[in-house]
Amino acid sequence: MKIKDRKLKNGEKIPEIGFGTWNLAGKTVRQSVEEALEAGYNHIDTAEGYSNESEIGEVLKNYDRSKLFLTSKVLPSNLNYENVINSCKKSLEKLNTSYLDLYLIHWPNPAISLRETLWAMNSLYEKNLVKSIGVSNFSLYQLKIAQKISPLPLTVNQVEFHPWWNQNKLLDYCLDNDIVLTAAAPLARTEVLSDKTIIQLSTKYDKTPAQIVLKWELAKKIIPIPKSSTKEHIRQNIKIYDWDMSAEDLKLIDNIGRKKQVYQLSIDDEVYGISD
Ligand SMILES: NC(=O)c1ccc[n+]([C@@H]2O[C@H](COP(=O)([O-])OP(=O)(O)OC[C@H]3O[C@@H](n4cnc5c(N)ncnc54)[C@H](OP(=O)(O)O)[C@@H]3O)[C@@H](O)[C@H]2O)c1
Repeated sequence: MKIKDRKLKNGEKIPEIGFGTWNLAGKTVRQSVEEALEAGYNHIDTAEGYSNESEIGEVLKNYDRSKLFLTSKVLPSNLNYENVINSCKKSLEKLNTSYLDLYLIHWPNPAISLRETLWAMNSLYEKNLVKSIGVSNFSLYQLKIAQKISPLPLTVNQVEFHPWWNQNKLLDYCLDNDIVLTAAAPLARTEVLSDKTIIQLSTKYDKTPAQIVLKWELAKKIIPIPKSSTKEHIRQNIKIYDWDMSAEDLKLIDNIGRKKQVYQLSIDDEVYGISD
């Protein structure tokens, strides 16, 4: 199973599906990440806020780092210059690696200068500690501001995206500006898997509801990062290449029209700490 790459605007490559690790800890995260790497995933998404980087780092010791794409994120409470540098260095140490492929601002924090944060990320890049930088949970407006003041190209915006939270305006802007939209909670934490249209298409194509949703996201040029601690799910979520969905059926998912977010934090959570 070879996962295809997409190109980031700075020329680096990113595997078009990744493995999410939010809320996986201890033995479960070790087993799940190992299972994912054995199944063929080569792109792992974590964050300092997930408190699982050390466990992931233990697993990574047994794999060829050069073949992996690792993303981590800096907490919104750590966005001043010194803290960004220190957070990144701690993530590198825990993950047993000398560089991150992608480093993201996990959430915007209006209390800390975004310019300062982005300059700190630039310094990490200049020291070869990160290959690409980006943002997460940035609205269209926040993304446009960040682009204007970032010394480096912002390659990714990781946001909630699934058939019930179809952020088309943001996606169109990202596609027009060569920014990759990564779908956090691409399965809407399972909620969307019981949607009537998804179930109908699952029956029609003889695929699981999760595969239908992931296929739709890939067709929209989004990079999904599904999380699973179930071996069968981990494996089925990357069986995405030997079948296709028709344009009409993809459109049916576009038109579901239901609006539901599965993760959203209060401003206090955004600034002082996060769980996802
Ligand atoms: N940047 C951010 O602020 C942010 C926010 C949220 C998420 N994320 C990232 O995005 C990743 C994914 O999001 P998420 O973990 O919130 O949720 P998700 O991937 O949308 O859903 C995970 C849930 O789906 C289930 N599942 C996975 N594959 C399945 C399948 N084939 N059939 C049925 N159920 C399946 C999992 O259960 P099993 O374990 O039983 O498979 C788990 O309960 C996170 O882990 C994290 O890396 C980032």
